[in-house]
Amino acid sequence: YVIGIDLGTSAVKALLLDRSGAIIAEASRDYPLFHEHSGWSEQRPNDWVDGTLGAVQDVVQKAGVPADSIEGISFSGQMHGLVLLDEAGNPVRNAILWNDTRTTAECREIEQTLGSDLLSITRNPALEGFTLPKILWVRKHEPEVFTAAKLFVLPKDYVRYKLTGELHMDYSDAAGTLLLDVANKAWSGAVLQAFGLPASFCPPLIESHGLAGTILPEAAAGAGLSTATKVFAGGADNACGAIGSGILKDGLTMCSIGTSGVILSYENGSGNDFRGKVHFFNHGKQDAFYAMGVTLAAGYSLTWFKNTFAKGESFNELLSGIDQVRPGSNGLLFTPYIVGERTPHPDAVIRGSFIGIDGSHERIHFARSVMEGITFSLNESVQLFREAGKTVDTIVSIGGGAQNPVWLQMQADIFNADVVALENEQGPGLGAAMLAAYGCGWFDSLDACADQFVKRAATYKPVPSAVEAYAGLFRIYQDVYGQTKSLN
Ligand code: XUL
Repeated sequence: YVIGIDLGTSAVKALLLDRSGAIIAEASRDYPLFHEHSGWSEQRPNDWVDGTLGAVQDVVQKAGVPADSIEGISFSGQMHGLVLLDEAGNPVRNAILWNDTRTTAECREIEQTLGSDLLSITRNPALEGFTLPKILWVRKHEPEVFTAAKLFVLPKDYVRYKLTGELHMDYSDAAGTLLLDVANKAWSGAVLQAFGLPASFCPPLIESHGLAGTILPEAAAGAGLSTATKVFAGGADNACGAIGSGILKDGLTMCSIGTSGVILSYENGSGNDFRGKVHFFNHGKQDAFYAMGVTLAAGYSLTWFKNTFAKGESFNELLSGIDQVRPGSNGLLFTPYIVGERTPHPDAVIRGSFIGIDGSHERIHFARSVMEGITFSLNESVQLFREAGKTVDTIVSIGGGAQNPVWLQMQADIFNADVVALENEQGPGLGAAMLAAYGCGWFDSLDACADQFVKRAATYKPVPSAVEAYAGLFRIYQDVYGQTKSLN
Protein backbone atom coordinates (compact mmCIF):
# COMPACT_ATOMS: atom_id res chain seq x y z
CA TYR A 1 0.00 0.00 0.00
CA VAL A 2 0.93 3.68 -0.31
CA ILE A 3 -0.38 6.77 1.44
CA GLY A 4 -0.84 10.19 -0.18
CA ILE A 5 -1.04 13.17 2.18
CA ASP A 6 -2.74 16.34 0.98
CA LEU A 7 -1.64 19.13 3.32
CA GLY A 8 -4.23 21.82 2.59
CA THR A 9 -5.13 25.19 4.06
CA SER A 10 -8.10 24.07 6.15
CA ALA A 11 -7.31 20.38 6.65
CA VAL A 12 -4.90 17.54 5.95
CA LYS A 13 -6.27 14.49 4.14
CA ALA A 14 -4.70 11.06 3.97
CA LEU A 15 -5.55 8.52 1.24
CA LEU A 16 -4.51 4.87 1.39
CA LEU A 17 -4.28 3.07 -1.96
CA ASP A 18 -3.45 -0.45 -3.04
CA ARG A 19 -1.35 -1.46 -6.06
CA SER A 20 -4.33 -1.35 -8.41
CA GLY A 21 -4.92 2.31 -7.54
CA ALA A 22 -8.09 1.56 -5.57
CA ILE A 23 -8.70 3.88 -2.62
CA ILE A 24 -8.99 1.67 0.43
CA ALA A 25 -9.54 4.38 3.06
CA GLU A 26 -9.51 8.14 3.62
CA ALA A 27 -9.16 10.28 6.74
CA SER A 28 -8.75 13.95 7.48
CA ARG A 29 -7.97 16.33 10.34
CA ASP A 30 -8.71 20.08 10.48
CA TYR A 31 -6.51 22.81 11.91
CA PRO A 32 -7.07 26.51 12.57
CA LEU A 33 -6.14 29.51 10.44
CA PHE A 34 -5.16 32.74 12.19
CA HIS A 35 -5.98 36.19 10.77
CA GLU A 36 -4.40 38.47 13.38
CA HIS A 37 -4.73 41.53 11.11
CA SER A 38 -6.64 42.17 7.92
CA GLY A 39 -4.81 40.44 5.04
CA TRP A 40 -2.76 38.21 7.35
CA SER A 41 -3.09 34.44 7.18
CA GLU A 42 -1.02 32.18 9.40
CA GLN A 43 -0.90 28.61 10.72
CA ARG A 44 1.08 26.78 13.39
CA PRO A 45 3.47 24.33 11.69
CA ASN A 46 3.12 21.82 14.53
CA ASP A 47 -0.67 21.73 13.96
CA TRP A 48 0.12 20.34 10.51
CA VAL A 49 2.39 17.70 12.04
CA ASP A 50 -0.16 16.63 14.66
CA GLY A 51 -2.94 16.62 12.04
CA THR A 52 -0.87 14.53 9.64
CA LEU A 53 0.11 11.97 12.29
CA GLY A 54 -3.55 11.74 13.35
CA ALA A 55 -4.89 11.42 9.79
CA VAL A 56 -2.31 8.74 8.93
CA GLN A 57 -3.12 6.80 12.06
CA ASP A 58 -6.86 7.00 11.25
CA VAL A 59 -6.43 5.93 7.63
CA VAL A 60 -4.28 2.91 8.55
CA GLN A 61 -6.78 1.90 11.21
CA LYS A 62 -9.78 2.36 8.88
CA ALA A 63 -8.09 0.29 6.17
CA GLY A 64 -7.33 -2.41 8.75
CA VAL A 65 -3.93 -3.19 7.22
CA PRO A 66 -0.71 -3.92 9.13
CA ALA A 67 1.69 -0.97 9.58
CA ASP A 68 4.51 -2.75 7.77
CA SER A 69 2.38 -3.17 4.64
CA ILE A 70 2.62 0.59 3.97
CA GLU A 71 5.56 0.72 1.56
CA GLY A 72 5.64 4.42 0.81
CA ILE A 73 4.17 7.76 1.68
CA SER A 74 4.36 11.12 -0.08
CA PHE A 75 2.91 14.61 0.07
CA SER A 76 1.02 17.31 -1.73
CA GLY A 77 1.45 20.66 -0.01
CA GLN A 78 -0.21 24.05 0.05
CA MET A 79 2.31 26.20 -1.81
CA HIS A 80 4.44 29.24 -0.91
CA GLY A 81 3.94 29.25 2.91
CA LEU A 82 7.00 30.46 4.80
CA VAL A 83 8.27 28.24 7.63
CA LEU A 84 11.43 29.68 9.23
CA LEU A 85 13.52 27.23 11.27
CA ASP A 86 16.19 27.89 13.88
CA GLU A 87 19.47 26.01 14.37
CA ALA A 88 17.65 23.18 16.17
CA GLY A 89 15.03 22.85 13.41
CA ASN A 90 12.21 24.50 15.37
CA PRO A 91 9.88 27.10 13.79
CA VAL A 92 10.79 30.62 14.96
CA ARG A 93 7.24 31.93 14.35
CA ASN A 94 3.93 30.88 12.81
CA ALA A 95 3.97 30.06 9.10
CA ILE A 96 2.86 32.88 6.77
CA LEU A 97 0.57 31.33 4.14
CA TRP A 98 0.03 31.60 0.39
CA ASN A 99 -3.15 33.67 0.85
CA ASP A 100 -1.52 36.30 3.10
CA THR A 101 -1.33 39.70 1.40
CA ARG A 102 0.84 41.79 3.76
CA THR A 103 3.86 41.94 1.44
CA THR A 104 2.97 44.46 -1.29
CA ALA A 105 5.93 46.73 -0.38
CA GLU A 106 8.34 43.78 -0.49
CA CYS A 107 7.03 42.78 -3.94
CA ARG A 108 7.84 46.27 -5.27
CA GLU A 109 11.31 46.03 -3.67
CA ILE A 110 11.91 42.68 -5.39
CA GLU A 111 10.87 44.10 -8.78
CA GLN A 112 13.17 47.12 -8.35
CA THR A 113 16.14 45.10 -7.14
CA LEU A 114 15.98 42.32 -9.73
CA GLY A 115 14.63 44.18 -12.75
CA SER A 116 14.43 41.86 -15.77
CA ASP A 117 16.29 39.07 -13.87
CA LEU A 118 13.08 38.43 -11.94
CA LEU A 119 11.28 37.01 -14.97
CA SER A 120 14.29 35.50 -16.70
CA ILE A 121 15.44 33.56 -13.60
CA THR A 122 12.31 32.87 -11.55
CA ARG A 123 9.90 32.93 -14.57
CA ASN A 124 7.29 34.58 -12.36
CA PRO A 125 6.18 38.03 -11.22
CA ALA A 126 6.59 39.09 -7.58
CA LEU A 127 3.22 38.36 -5.96
CA GLU A 128 2.22 38.83 -2.32
CA GLY A 129 1.51 35.13 -1.93
CA PHE A 130 5.00 33.93 -2.88
CA THR A 131 7.73 33.11 -0.37
CA LEU A 132 10.61 35.56 -0.92
CA PRO A 133 8.46 38.64 -0.14
CA LYS A 134 7.48 36.96 3.14
CA ILE A 135 11.15 36.37 4.05
CA LEU A 136 11.92 40.06 3.42
CA TRP A 137 8.86 41.08 5.46
CA VAL A 138 9.99 39.10 8.52
CA ARG A 139 13.54 40.45 8.20
CA LYS A 140 12.21 44.03 8.11
CA HIS A 141 9.40 43.83 10.66
CA GLU A 142 10.63 41.18 13.10
CA PRO A 143 14.46 41.48 13.02
CA GLU A 144 14.98 39.53 16.25
CA VAL A 145 12.85 36.65 15.04
CA PHE A 146 14.70 36.69 11.75
CA THR A 147 18.14 36.52 13.39
CA ALA A 148 17.18 33.21 14.97
CA ALA A 149 16.16 31.79 11.56
CA LYS A 150 18.82 29.69 9.88
CA LEU A 151 16.83 28.21 7.02
CA PHE A 152 13.39 28.19 5.45
CA VAL A 153 11.13 25.40 4.20
CA LEU A 154 7.59 25.14 2.82
CA PRO A 155 4.64 23.59 4.70
CA LYS A 156 4.83 19.96 3.57
CA ASP A 157 8.67 20.04 3.87
CA TYR A 158 8.32 20.81 7.55
CA VAL A 159 5.93 17.89 8.08
CA ARG A 160 8.25 15.58 6.13
CA TYR A 161 11.19 16.82 8.22
CA LYS A 162 9.37 15.96 11.45
CA LEU A 163 8.61 12.50 10.05
CA THR A 164 12.12 11.73 8.76
CA GLY A 165 14.58 14.14 10.41
CA GLU A 166 15.78 15.08 6.87
CA LEU A 167 15.43 18.54 5.32
CA HIS A 168 14.58 18.79 1.62
CA MET A 169 12.50 20.80 -0.83
CA ASP A 170 11.30 19.48 -4.19
CA TYR A 171 11.54 21.52 -7.40
CA SER A 172 7.79 21.94 -7.91
CA ASP A 173 7.35 23.65 -4.54
CA ALA A 174 10.71 25.50 -4.68
CA ALA A 175 9.51 27.09 -7.95
CA GLY A 176 6.92 29.09 -5.96
CA THR A 177 9.51 30.76 -3.72
CA LEU A 178 11.01 33.25 -6.26
CA LEU A 179 14.44 31.91 -5.22
CA LEU A 180 14.68 29.10 -7.77
CA ASP A 181 16.26 29.31 -11.21
CA VAL A 182 13.31 27.43 -12.67
CA ALA A 183 14.77 26.42 -16.05
CA ASN A 184 18.09 25.27 -14.53
CA LYS A 185 16.56 23.59 -11.45
CA ALA A 186 18.93 25.22 -8.92
CA TRP A 187 18.71 27.85 -6.19
CA SER A 188 19.55 31.16 -7.83
CA GLY A 189 22.85 32.51 -6.47
CA ALA A 190 22.02 35.83 -8.14
CA VAL A 191 18.68 36.23 -6.34
CA LEU A 192 20.08 35.09 -2.97
CA GLN A 193 22.98 37.52 -3.31
CA ALA A 194 20.74 40.42 -4.37
CA PHE A 195 18.87 40.09 -1.06
CA GLY A 196 21.87 39.22 1.11
CA LEU A 197 20.65 35.70 1.89
CA PRO A 198 23.23 32.92 2.39
CA ALA A 199 23.02 29.73 0.29
CA SER A 200 22.59 27.84 3.57
CA PHE A 201 19.18 29.52 3.94
CA CYS A 202 17.74 27.10 1.35
CA PRO A 203 17.32 23.34 1.91
CA PRO A 204 18.75 20.72 -0.51
CA LEU A 205 16.64 20.23 -3.65
CA ILE A 206 15.14 16.88 -4.61
CA GLU A 207 12.83 15.38 -7.27
CA SER A 208 9.20 14.94 -6.20
CA HIS A 209 9.47 11.13 -6.46
CA GLY A 210 12.90 11.20 -4.75
CA LEU A 211 13.47 9.23 -1.55
CA ALA A 212 13.69 11.71 1.32
CA GLY A 213 14.15 9.20 4.15
CA THR A 214 12.30 6.73 6.34
CA ILE A 215 10.07 7.31 9.37
CA LEU A 216 11.70 8.20 12.71
CA PRO A 217 10.70 5.86 15.58
CA GLU A 218 8.78 8.57 17.45
CA ALA A 219 6.81 9.60 14.35
CA ALA A 220 6.18 5.95 13.46
CA ALA A 221 4.64 5.43 16.88
CA GLY A 222 2.51 8.61 16.54
CA ALA A 223 1.27 7.70 13.07
CA GLY A 224 0.88 3.95 13.50
CA LEU A 225 3.49 3.34 10.79
CA SER A 226 6.62 1.21 10.62
CA THR A 227 10.12 2.77 10.54
CA ALA A 228 10.67 0.92 7.24
CA THR A 229 8.05 3.00 5.38
CA LYS A 230 9.80 5.05 2.70
CA VAL A 231 9.06 8.76 2.53
CA PHE A 232 9.14 10.41 -0.90
CA ALA A 233 9.53 14.16 -1.28
CA GLY A 234 6.14 15.02 -2.83
CA GLY A 235 5.16 18.21 -4.61
CA ALA A 236 3.23 21.45 -4.70
CA ASP A 237 -0.53 20.95 -4.54
CA ASN A 238 -1.05 22.13 -8.10
CA ALA A 239 1.71 19.87 -9.44
CA CYS A 240 0.17 16.95 -7.51
CA GLY A 241 -3.30 17.90 -8.75
CA ALA A 242 -1.88 17.71 -12.29
CA ILE A 243 -0.34 14.28 -11.61
CA GLY A 244 -3.55 13.03 -9.99
CA SER A 245 -5.58 14.12 -13.03
CA GLY A 246 -3.12 12.72 -15.56
CA ILE A 247 -1.80 16.06 -16.86
CA LEU A 248 1.50 14.50 -17.87
CA LYS A 249 1.88 15.35 -21.53
CA ASP A 250 1.72 18.34 -23.84
CA GLY A 251 -1.78 19.38 -24.90
CA LEU A 252 -3.43 18.53 -21.57
CA THR A 253 -4.98 21.18 -19.35
CA MET A 254 -6.47 21.01 -15.86
CA CYS A 255 -9.15 23.13 -14.23
CA SER A 256 -9.18 22.90 -10.45
CA ILE A 257 -11.86 24.73 -8.50
CA GLY A 258 -11.16 24.58 -4.79
CA THR A 259 -10.87 27.57 -2.43
CA SER A 260 -8.76 29.12 -5.16
CA GLY A 261 -9.12 28.14 -8.81
CA VAL A 262 -6.46 27.11 -11.24
CA ILE A 263 -6.09 26.58 -14.98
CA LEU A 264 -2.91 24.58 -15.51
CA SER A 265 -1.29 23.64 -18.78
CA TYR A 266 1.46 21.01 -19.14
CA GLU A 267 4.77 22.26 -20.59
CA ASN A 268 7.38 19.86 -22.01
CA GLY A 269 10.28 22.25 -21.56
CA SER A 270 10.93 25.75 -20.27
CA GLY A 271 10.74 27.24 -23.78
CA ASN A 272 7.32 28.89 -23.74
CA ASP A 273 7.52 32.47 -22.61
CA PHE A 274 4.33 33.76 -21.05
CA ARG A 275 6.22 36.89 -19.85
CA GLY A 276 4.97 36.52 -16.30
CA LYS A 277 1.30 36.74 -17.32
CA VAL A 278 0.75 33.28 -15.86
CA HIS A 279 2.80 31.37 -13.28
CA PHE A 280 5.47 29.06 -14.67
CA PHE A 281 6.61 26.30 -12.32
CA ASN A 282 8.49 22.98 -12.35
CA HIS A 283 6.16 19.97 -12.55
CA GLY A 284 6.25 17.03 -10.13
CA LYS A 285 7.18 14.93 -13.18
CA GLN A 286 10.93 15.06 -13.67
CA ASP A 287 12.18 17.82 -16.02
CA ALA A 288 8.67 18.89 -17.02
CA PHE A 289 6.99 22.22 -16.26
CA TYR A 290 3.52 23.73 -16.15
CA ALA A 291 2.01 27.14 -16.72
CA MET A 292 -0.86 28.19 -14.50
CA GLY A 293 -3.35 31.00 -14.05
CA VAL A 294 -4.94 31.48 -10.62
CA THR A 295 -8.33 32.85 -9.53
CA LEU A 296 -7.90 33.72 -5.86
CA ALA A 297 -11.55 33.40 -4.77
CA ALA A 298 -13.01 30.54 -6.81
CA GLY A 299 -14.87 28.05 -4.58
CA TYR A 300 -14.35 30.63 -1.85
CA SER A 301 -16.74 33.01 -3.69
CA LEU A 302 -19.50 30.40 -3.71
CA THR A 303 -18.81 29.49 -0.08
CA TRP A 304 -19.00 33.18 0.84
CA PHE A 305 -22.29 33.49 -1.04
CA LYS A 306 -23.77 30.44 0.68
CA ASN A 307 -22.61 31.49 4.16
CA THR A 308 -23.98 35.00 3.65
CA PHE A 309 -27.27 34.37 1.84
CA ALA A 310 -28.08 30.72 2.56
CA LYS A 311 -26.72 30.27 6.09
CA GLY A 312 -27.26 26.80 7.44
CA GLU A 313 -28.16 25.36 4.00
CA SER A 314 -26.12 22.84 2.05
CA PHE A 315 -24.65 23.51 -1.40
CA ASN A 316 -27.27 21.12 -2.79
CA GLU A 317 -30.06 23.21 -1.27
CA LEU A 318 -28.51 26.45 -2.50
CA LEU A 319 -28.06 25.10 -6.03
CA SER A 320 -31.34 23.22 -6.36
CA GLY A 321 -33.05 24.37 -9.59
CA ILE A 322 -29.88 25.89 -11.03
CA ASP A 323 -30.34 23.90 -14.25
CA GLN A 324 -33.59 25.84 -14.83
CA VAL A 325 -31.72 29.16 -15.08
CA ARG A 326 -30.41 29.85 -18.59
CA PRO A 327 -26.72 30.55 -19.32
CA GLY A 328 -26.11 34.18 -18.41
CA SER A 329 -28.31 34.17 -15.27
CA ASN A 330 -30.88 36.47 -16.96
CA GLY A 331 -28.39 39.31 -17.33
CA LEU A 332 -26.74 39.10 -13.91
CA LEU A 333 -22.92 39.23 -13.90
CA PHE A 334 -20.53 38.60 -11.00
CA THR A 335 -16.80 39.30 -10.74
CA PRO A 336 -15.15 37.06 -8.10
CA TYR A 337 -12.57 39.52 -6.81
CA ILE A 338 -13.73 39.29 -3.20
CA VAL A 339 -10.17 38.83 -1.85
CA GLY A 340 -8.38 40.39 -4.83
CA GLU A 341 -7.27 38.62 -8.01
CA ARG A 342 -4.12 37.03 -9.48
CA THR A 343 -4.64 36.18 -13.17
CA PRO A 344 -4.86 38.14 -15.38
CA HIS A 345 -4.91 41.03 -12.89
CA PRO A 346 -2.30 40.67 -10.13
CA ASP A 347 -4.19 43.00 -7.79
CA ALA A 348 -4.60 42.38 -4.08
CA VAL A 349 -7.02 45.30 -3.54
CA ILE A 350 -9.59 44.94 -6.35
CA ARG A 351 -13.01 43.86 -5.05
CA GLY A 352 -15.92 41.99 -6.65
CA SER A 353 -19.26 43.10 -8.04
CA PHE A 354 -22.75 42.05 -9.09
CA ILE A 355 -23.86 43.94 -12.18
CA GLY A 356 -27.24 43.98 -13.96
CA ILE A 357 -29.52 43.25 -11.01
CA ASP A 358 -33.16 43.09 -12.13
CA GLY A 359 -36.28 43.11 -9.95
CA SER A 360 -37.11 39.62 -11.25
CA HIS A 361 -33.86 38.04 -10.08
CA GLU A 362 -34.06 35.47 -7.30
CA ARG A 363 -31.36 33.97 -5.13
CA ILE A 364 -30.82 31.14 -7.62
CA HIS A 365 -29.87 33.68 -10.34
CA PHE A 366 -27.29 35.14 -8.01
CA ALA A 367 -25.92 31.69 -7.18
CA ARG A 368 -25.63 30.81 -10.86
CA SER A 369 -23.97 34.13 -11.68
CA VAL A 370 -21.38 33.49 -8.94
CA MET A 371 -20.51 30.16 -10.61
CA GLU A 372 -20.39 31.86 -14.02
CA GLY A 373 -18.20 34.71 -12.72
CA ILE A 374 -15.70 32.24 -11.22
CA THR A 375 -15.63 30.36 -14.53
CA PHE A 376 -15.21 33.61 -16.53
CA SER A 377 -12.22 34.47 -14.35
CA LEU A 378 -10.70 31.04 -15.11
CA ASN A 379 -11.50 31.54 -18.79
CA GLU A 380 -9.21 34.57 -18.78
CA SER A 381 -6.37 32.12 -18.05
CA VAL A 382 -7.57 29.78 -20.80
CA GLN A 383 -7.47 32.77 -23.19
CA LEU A 384 -3.91 33.66 -22.13
CA PHE A 385 -2.78 30.11 -23.02
CA ARG A 386 -4.56 30.28 -26.38
CA GLU A 387 -3.04 33.70 -27.11
CA ALA A 388 0.40 32.18 -26.41
CA GLY A 389 -0.30 29.63 -29.14
CA LYS A 390 -1.35 26.67 -27.01
CA THR A 391 -4.23 24.43 -28.06
CA VAL A 392 -6.72 24.08 -25.23
CA ASP A 393 -9.37 21.62 -26.38
CA THR A 394 -9.52 19.11 -23.51
CA ILE A 395 -9.66 20.19 -19.88
CA VAL A 396 -9.70 17.73 -16.98
CA SER A 397 -11.80 19.26 -14.21
CA ILE A 398 -11.15 18.51 -10.53
CA GLY A 399 -12.04 19.90 -7.10
CA GLY A 400 -15.38 21.11 -5.76
CA GLY A 401 -16.25 22.59 -9.15
CA ALA A 402 -16.21 19.11 -10.67
CA GLN A 403 -18.85 17.75 -8.26
CA ASN A 404 -21.77 19.48 -9.96
CA PRO A 405 -22.83 18.48 -13.52
CA VAL A 406 -24.26 21.95 -14.21
CA TRP A 407 -20.91 23.51 -13.37
CA LEU A 408 -19.06 20.96 -15.55
CA GLN A 409 -21.31 21.80 -18.53
CA MET A 410 -20.84 25.51 -17.77
CA GLN A 411 -17.06 25.01 -17.89
CA ALA A 412 -17.35 23.28 -21.30
CA ASP A 413 -19.52 26.13 -22.63
CA ILE A 414 -17.44 29.00 -21.21
CA PHE A 415 -14.03 27.45 -22.03
CA ASN A 416 -15.37 26.20 -25.40
CA ALA A 417 -13.50 22.92 -24.83
CA ASP A 418 -14.28 19.34 -23.89
CA VAL A 419 -14.38 19.05 -20.11
CA VAL A 420 -13.51 15.66 -18.61
CA ALA A 421 -14.63 14.57 -15.16
CA LEU A 422 -12.77 11.81 -13.31
CA GLU A 423 -14.11 8.76 -11.53
CA ASN A 424 -13.67 8.96 -7.77
CA GLU A 425 -11.65 12.17 -8.20
CA GLN A 426 -9.12 12.83 -5.42
CA GLY A 427 -6.96 15.58 -6.93
CA PRO A 428 -3.69 16.35 -5.17
CA GLY A 429 -3.92 13.49 -2.64
CA LEU A 430 -4.01 10.98 -5.48
CA GLY A 431 -1.03 12.73 -7.13
CA ALA A 432 0.89 12.42 -3.85
CA ALA A 433 0.04 8.71 -3.60
CA MET A 434 1.15 8.25 -7.22
CA LEU A 435 4.53 9.84 -6.42
CA ALA A 436 4.93 7.27 -3.64
CA ALA A 437 3.84 4.40 -5.94
CA TYR A 438 6.33 5.49 -8.61
CA GLY A 439 9.03 6.12 -5.99
CA CYS A 440 8.51 2.59 -4.62
CA GLY A 441 9.19 1.23 -8.13
CA TRP A 442 5.65 -0.06 -8.77
CA PHE A 443 5.80 1.60 -12.22
CA ASP A 444 8.50 2.54 -14.74
CA SER A 445 7.14 6.06 -15.09
CA LEU A 446 4.55 8.41 -13.64
CA ASP A 447 2.72 8.15 -16.98
CA ALA A 448 2.38 4.38 -16.56
CA CYS A 449 1.08 4.94 -13.03
CA ALA A 450 -1.48 7.46 -14.36
CA ASP A 451 -2.65 4.96 -16.99
CA GLN A 452 -3.67 2.68 -14.15
CA PHE A 453 -4.64 5.08 -11.35
CA VAL A 454 -6.43 7.96 -13.16
CA LYS A 455 -9.82 6.92 -14.48
CA ARG A 456 -11.84 9.22 -16.73
CA ALA A 457 -15.63 9.30 -16.33
CA ALA A 458 -17.92 11.63 -18.33
CA THR A 459 -16.90 14.15 -21.00
CA TYR A 460 -18.94 17.37 -21.27
CA LYS A 461 -19.03 18.83 -24.80
CA PRO A 462 -19.59 22.54 -25.47
CA VAL A 463 -23.14 23.38 -26.65
CA PRO A 464 -22.88 25.95 -29.52
CA SER A 465 -25.81 28.17 -28.41
CA ALA A 466 -24.45 28.40 -24.86
CA VAL A 467 -20.90 29.01 -26.14
CA GLU A 468 -22.23 31.98 -28.10
CA ALA A 469 -24.27 33.38 -25.20
CA TYR A 470 -21.28 33.14 -22.86
CA ALA A 471 -18.85 34.66 -25.39
CA GLY A 472 -20.94 37.86 -25.45
CA LEU A 473 -21.10 38.04 -21.66
CA PHE A 474 -17.40 37.26 -21.32
CA ARG A 475 -16.56 40.40 -23.32
CA ILE A 476 -18.59 42.47 -20.84
CA TYR A 477 -16.98 40.59 -17.93
CA GLN A 478 -13.53 41.53 -19.22
CA ASP A 479 -14.45 45.23 -19.15
CA VAL A 480 -15.61 45.20 -15.55
CA TYR A 481 -12.12 45.03 -13.98
CA GLY A 482 -11.03 48.33 -15.55
CA GLN A 483 -14.35 49.98 -14.76
CA THR A 484 -14.43 48.96 -11.09
CA LYS A 485 -10.72 49.39 -10.31
CA SER A 486 -11.14 53.07 -9.49
CA LEU A 487 -13.70 52.22 -6.78
CA ASN A 488 -10.93 50.92 -4.51
C1 XUL B 1 -0.77 28.66 -6.15
C2 XUL B 1 -1.44 29.02 -4.89
C3 XUL B 1 -2.54 28.18 -4.40
C4 XUL B 1 -2.02 27.34 -3.28
C5 XUL B 1 -3.17 26.68 -2.55
O1 XUL B 1 0.16 29.61 -6.59
O2 XUL B 1 -1.11 29.98 -4.24
O3 XUL B 1 -3.10 27.38 -5.40
O4 XUL B 1 -1.11 26.41 -3.76
O5 XUL B 1 -2.68 25.80 -1.64
